[in-house]
Amino acid sequence: MTAEISVGVAGLGYWGPNLARNFDDLARLTWLCDLDPELLARQSARFPQARGTVDFEEMLADDELDAVVVATPVPTHAALARRALEAGKHVLVEKPPALTATEAEDLVALAAERDLVCMPGHLLLYHPGVRKLHELVTSGELGDVLVLYGNRQNLGKIRKDENALWSLGVHDLSVILHLVGEEPSELWAHGSAFLTPGVEDVVFCYLRFPSGKIAHMHLSWLDPHKMRKITVVGSEKMAVFDDMELERKVTVYEKAPEQPAQTYGEWRTRTGDIFSPKVSNDEPLRLECREFVRLVGGEGDRSQVARDGLSVVRVLEQLQASLEAVPA
Ligand SMILES: NC(=O)c1ccc[n+]([C@@H]2O[C@H](COP(=O)([O-])OP(=O)(O)OC[C@H]3O[C@@H](n4cnc5c(N)ncnc54)[C@H](O)[C@@H]3O)[C@@H](O)[C@H]2O)c1
Repeated sequence: MTAEISVGVAGLGYWGPNLARNFDDLARLTWLCDLDPELLARQSARFPQARGTVDFEEMLADDELDAVVVATPVPTHAALARRALEAGKHVLVEKPPALTATEAEDLVALAAERDLVCMPGHLLLYHPGVRKLHELVTSGELGDVLVLYGNRQNLGKIRKDENALWSLGVHDLSVILHLVGEEPSELWAHGSAFLTPGVEDVVFCYLRFPSGKIAHMHLSWLDPHKMRKITVVGSEKMAVFDDMELERKVTVYEKAPEQPAQTYGEWRTRTGDIFSPKVSNDEPLRLECREFVRLVGGEGDRSQVARDGLSVVRVLEQLQASLEAVPA
């Protein structure tokens, strides 16, 4: 059934070929598009059944094409996604789908009006480890979620055109908002541009949600530790997703504060087992692409993914404003 959907991939630099490979397996990959004829020729050799073009509009003009994948540089995302939706195509647009909330709102509205899928490439949401974390949170296993924090640090890759908030924070933020299910009512971001003027290499973010939960993100490419970690502190248990671990992607700690009756209101701590639930080895990108095909095929809630993309952009925009605010 899903093999009937025809997909075109625009942007064949580093990431696009991974998407092309997956859609070649999961659907019919019928178009490849890149402004660079050399990259286009290289991928056309890999996928000879797909037609190649350097012109995005030529691809959109194909009435047989159902869906477009946008894996071009970030500043081009919103405009290309908009054009694809206007041409009646479903869109999987790499993260972040837009640079402003206004542009993201525009995409959500257009997709709703045309009943099309506009899914952001929030890869981590499809990671089996993050799905397990979500299951632990929503099943109540951890008790009430109190605190969440993300660590995304490393030495490099040093970027010049995107700061650590937009480049790294988009991943953790998509997960934090997904786990909490709310948008923050209060936030701040502080950081510093040490290497390239105006491009923050290190950013610390604080978020407070209407329910009282709080979250933090440490985002940096100027750090001795390579960390890709999300920690959730619940009232009953605590859980960690660590993407640097090969096998133990998720660890659950049976640790919590407690107030036994005999202690007359004094807090004590309880420490029990530490265990690692089974997490599948499925490639997150494969699961993301499969979800897109499913949504295009009419299953699932297509409006939810578009709104998730908007929430992330809206919060990133607010964090950026806080980062730029001159301290009093
Ligand atoms: N989800 C993830 O984990 C992940 C990982 C890497 C990259 N990405 C995202 O993928 C996107 C691409 O990143 P990359 O590292 O592959 O960049 P890249 O610069 O290597 O490739 C981008 C390609 O897009 C092409 N391009 C630009 N404008 C175009 C247009 N109008 N029509 C057709 N082609 C056009 C360029 O010629 C280039 O080949 C970015 O949005 C990035 O954030 C996501």
